[in-house]
Amino acid sequence: MRRGPVYNPRTMPVYLDHAATTPLRPEVLEAMTPYLGGVFGNPSSGHAFGRAAREALDDAHERLARAIGAEAREIVFTSGGTEASNLGLKGAAWAGKSRGHRIVTTPVEHHAVGHSLAYLEHFGFEVVQVPVDRYGRVDPADIDRAITERTTLVSVMLANNEVGTLEPIAEVAEVVHAHRGVLLHVDAVQAAPWVDLDVASLGADLVALSAHKAEGPKGTGALWIRRGTHLLAQQHGGSQERHRRAGTENVAGAVGMARAFELVRAEREITVPRVRALRDRLAAALADLEGVEPTGHPTERLPHILSVIAHGIDGATAAQALDLEGVAISTGSACTTGSTEPSHVLDAMGYPADEARGALRLSLGRSTTTADIAEAERVVTAVLARLLAMTAPAHGVAAG
Ligand SMILES: Cc1ncc(COP(=O)(O)O)c(C=O)c1O
Repeated sequence: MRRGPVYNPRTMPVYLDHAATTPLRPEVLEAMTPYLGGVFGNPSSGHAFGRAAREALDDAHERLARAIGAEAREIVFTSGGTEASNLGLKGAAWAGKSRGHRIVTTPVEHHAVGHSLAYLEHFGFEVVQVPVDRYGRVDPADIDRAITERTTLVSVMLANNEVGTLEPIAEVAEVVHAHRGVLLHVDAVQAAPWVDLDVASLGADLVALSAHKAEGPKGTGALWIRRGTHLLAQQHGGSQERHRRAGTENVAGAVGMARAFELVRAEREITVPRVRALRDRLAAALADLEGVEPTGHPTERLPHILSVIAHGIDGATAAQALDLEGVAISTGSACTTGSTEPSHVLDAMGYPADEARGALRLSLGRSTTTADIAEAERVVTAVLARLLAMTAPAHGVAAG
């Protein structure tokens, strides 16, 4: 059997795609290991094996809740951030259908939100996208104006995964809750490891989270549901997760997610300034290149994401060239079977498709080192300078 590379930061290429996923943290793997081996019981079983698994699962609810400022019963473990948003949005939309069918959102949401809402449109829901500015930020006053008597749900992300812009959630929550009975769903998947997340004071009713952006396991996430919020389950079968998500629970995943979020919370004060400084150093190096324009908000942004447009070059070509030179980054676009779709996020921010083609996203993580950034600085500036020189006449665009 052919094996893929095993991540070893000393021997591997520089990994600058932590917004896509992060490596599993050894302490998290250690916490999960018993539940991938000896402690294999079904948490719904009444015998000793089941009880051991149930205890671990209950403990994971408690620990994740403590790490995000929630109550254990408000947490539903899911198969990831995507399922969390599917459950939150569809569950709340259907539960509120007799009161209204209008849902307000932004055009820069992750597809886990955007496509869930597009699905709901097939069933008579009306989805209204409130525009964002050049930085990808929504104006809470526009959200306010879009809410009518028929509105039951608003969905705005905490921070954008492509350009890193933070949305003004506190202000959005204020305007949403001035309208009685309207729920606010927040996709916090990309932001959660990087902001001081306290769901109870965020002002939202539903918050989607994912483990693998925080050095936890892939395929595990959670939806926080404010106590008292009515939601219809979207997957039916057993009575797991207080009837809100049927199916035998992923005990190891839940344990791993809780451990990952505990570590993130305990270390955030140290991690965030260190990663931000490294990101800013890389940003400064790229800013020296003529034809490279930063995207997203200059200050209201996540500390680990650096997003740029290299004018006149193709982002996919640049990412490929960087891969060959030992730096793993991503483009700002979703690639599907050979064709590169322009990013819906940059489109909503007002970038024409030919400019959005040059989008690149470099994202750091807790495990990123100063040596990684020194190497990336050297390689990325050299590769981009080479590609920009090849397309020199095309990038006479003002970078600003
Ligand atoms: C903002 C945002 N929402 C949702 C998701 C999906 O999360 P998951 O991969 O856990 O399904 C992602 C992952 O890229 C994301 O960045």
